[in-house]
Amino acid sequence: MIKINPKNTETKLVQEYLLSAVGPRPIALASTIDKNNIPNLSPFSFFNVFSGNPPILIFSPARRIRNNTEKDTLRNLQQIKEVVINIVNYEIVEKMVKSSFDYASEIDEFIESGFTHLNSEIVKPYRVKESPVQMECAVNKIISLGDNAGSGNLIICEIQLIHISEKILNQNKKIDQNKIDLVGRMGYDWYIKSDSKSLFKINKNNIK
Ligand SMILES: Cc1cc2nc3c(=O)[nH]c(=O)nc-3n(C[C@H](O)[C@H](O)[C@H](O)COP(=O)(O)O)c2cc1C
Repeated sequence: MIKINPKNTETKLVQEYLLSAVGPRPIALASTIDKNNIPNLSPFSFFNVFSGNPPILIFSPARRIRNNTEKDTLRNLQQIKEVVINIVNYEIVEKMVKSSFDYASEIDEFIESGFTHLNSEIVKPYRVKESPVQMECAVNKIISLGDNAGSGNLIICEIQLIHISEKILNQNKKIDQNKIDLVGRMGYDWYIKSDSKSLFKINKNNIK
């Protein structure tokens, strides 16, 4: 085994090991808006669901390692405490990556990455029309994990409304795992898709 002590290792290297080992990670395509109504769209794989009641999602826009600055998503959320978390499947993976490029704050990343704005019903930020599941959220709390380059900021989101595309449902109106084809982020430029070739089931009753 090799050993990595984060306290005496360069942040970039620590993060590379973490991102390659902790995965596949789900991807939140987070849509926010600033006080001048400029939309922003960016992917975050420091993301998961943490509670069913209240329904809570958390994602983390970190301070840039390169120059220790804040991301536009975090700045927008400090102004307007609402976000739409759009789920990423294989169909939209390339557009999602495009939305992660470093655009100036006044650029609408929906347009740059080829996504379509869809009005939300409860919150101000737009939904992504091409995403199979869109969750309108109120931001309950923002927790800063530090002021250093690479420090995360936990965005605690309470889901207000979930929109689910008919295309990914089975006859019982439940999400069909074979149809949704979710994408996960791994280390470096690696991703994983979850179509029927990769999915497997474990029947608890067959385990002795
Ligand atoms: C799949 C994917 C996942 C990402 N996950 C994160 C993340 O969890 N946290 C983060 O700070 N940046 C993450 N990034 C990088 C941001 O998306 C990128 O810095 C983006 O430009 C931020 O945009 P903004 O400044 O408009 O908020 C990720 C990028 C990709 C492609």
